[in-house]
Amino acid sequence: MTEATRTETFALDATALQPGDGARARLSRLLDPRSFVELGSARQHRASGFGLERQRPDGDGVVAGTGAVEGRSVGVYAQDRRVLGGSLGEAHADKVARCIEQAARGGVPVIGINDSGGARIQEGVAALDGYGRVFTANVAASGRVPQIALLLGPCAGGATYSPALMDFTIMSDEASMFLTGPRVVKAVTGEDVDARSLGGPEVHGERSGSAHFVVDDDEQAFAVTRELLGYLPDSAWARPTEAPVEDPPEVDLREVVPEDGRSPYDVRHLIRGVVDGGRFLEVQAHWAQNLVIGFSRIDGRTVGIVANQARWLAGVLDGTAAEKGARFVRFCDAFGIPLVVAVDVPGFLPGTTQEHGGVIRKGAKLLHAFTSATVPRVSVVLRKAFGGAYIVMNSRSIGADAVLAWPGAELAVMGAEGAADIVFRRAIVEEPERRDELIAGYRRDAMDVDVAARRGSVDEVIAPEDTRSALVAILRSLRGARQPGFVHDNMPQ
Ligand code: HXC
Repeated sequence: MTEATRTETFALDATALQPGDGARARLSRLLDPRSFVELGSARQHRASGFGLERQRPDGDGVVAGTGAVEGRSVGVYAQDRRVLGGSLGEAHADKVARCIEQAARGGVPVIGINDSGGARIQEGVAALDGYGRVFTANVAASGRVPQIALLLGPCAGGATYSPALMDFTIMSDEASMFLTGPRVVKAVTGEDVDARSLGGPEVHGERSGSAHFVVDDDEQAFAVTRELLGYLPDSAWARPTEAPVEDPPEVDLREVVPEDGRSPYDVRHLIRGVVDGGRFLEVQAHWAQNLVIGFSRIDGRTVGIVANQARWLAGVLDGTAAEKGARFVRFCDAFGIPLVVAVDVPGFLPGTTQEHGGVIRKGAKLLHAFTSATVPRVSVVLRKAFGGAYIVMNSRSIGADAVLAWPGAELAVMGAEGAADIVFRRAIVEEPERRDELIAGYRRDAMDVDVAARRGSVDEVIAPEDTRSALVAILRSLRGARQPGFVHDNMPQ
């Protein structure tokens, strides 16, 4: 390929970056200046038929290699939509798979920029096997090195499944993800749907949960990649990164969380009032909003936060939230990141929609994830922890290292009214005027946080303003709880 053609294929002028511009330009914006070393730039496919023999672009539509993000080495690749649609054939696949394998071998994160129509149709089964090879590399690297997928254009088929096997997906407004594109949908089912409605950022950010971060453009995608990477270790064998300790902003936590257990509030205000610098990188912020997950630092060290969100469905757990939490907990456990859990949960959402939708199976994932996690894990019960959701949300009984609770918190099988109506049913039928008194008695004798503290389900009742200092001390004391090393992979949710 002549120099002129190469320049046209890969826009080298990074300042002219637009969605769809060359892969090298994108990498130059993501990576530290002059840090990128390309591998396989001359690689060409050897396929023929359907005119492929007349198109053998250098690099085969993907730029791969190694570079640095904020001084840390990463394996990177970026597909170029302007070369054979960014489609993946045998040579393209080999470059991507080797990039992932090399990162896993070297113990550095891998970042893939996806912008591809999926398996190269002209290469047939060789292209499918190519994806099989990429998926195998993704799975082999899972739980060993962090894998971050950026989706910056229309992505079909394998270009969505490889990201789904990775730990985090970052999707720009120009991107779409679907197994089969609108034209195939029309041909097979007759349904008329455009790319955005089929698999645009709203679909995956809010409804399917397949996008962990939804951003406006390439630039924001790179910024989120840097921020996310900042919280993560290079590999399972490395310790999570550290930063200078910062105080949180002045927040009156008693103001943030209303005493009345039924009043809504935004738990993210609580999180920001407890963590270093008030910084919280929320993951899957617009999907299953009844459970908030994300990364922060406490005492300079990365923590994974899992919190019931009282302002969304009253913070109830459902199947979707359980799946969301489960994979996050598994990720943190795989990479040695301690878990801090803010509990304020009225229970699991009851009803046929949930039962038929598999809430037992999905809830079990979160239960399994917490119970098996060997990283330090600390819970703080803010107002209430009821029923199965109490157990699932990192209770003492499933291995929490410490459970703290605020004064006035209630821990029970269910709310006082419901409990009294069952336990005292006969008495209430006979003397209905005693119902309030019976409810109050049940609340005092069975639900009060002091009852839970006396029996050891709660380790200590602490004042809200002492939350951060207690977390700092407990997390420090658990610093040696787990040595770095591979524990398990991070199966998709
Ligand atoms: C070869 C492809 C291609 C592919 C796109 N192109 N996808 N070439 N193999 N899979 C080429 C087009 O021919 C075109 O070439 C150029 O890329 C741009 O494509 P357009 O269709 O013009 O772009 P756009 O309208 O933006 O649509 C993008 C798209 C659409 C939605 C991705 O191209 C599409 O639906 N492609 C097919 C998707 C698909 O079904 N892939 C196989 C999935 S199976 P020219 O020369 O005209 O510019 C798979 C296996 C693994 O991936 C599955 C695991 C589950």
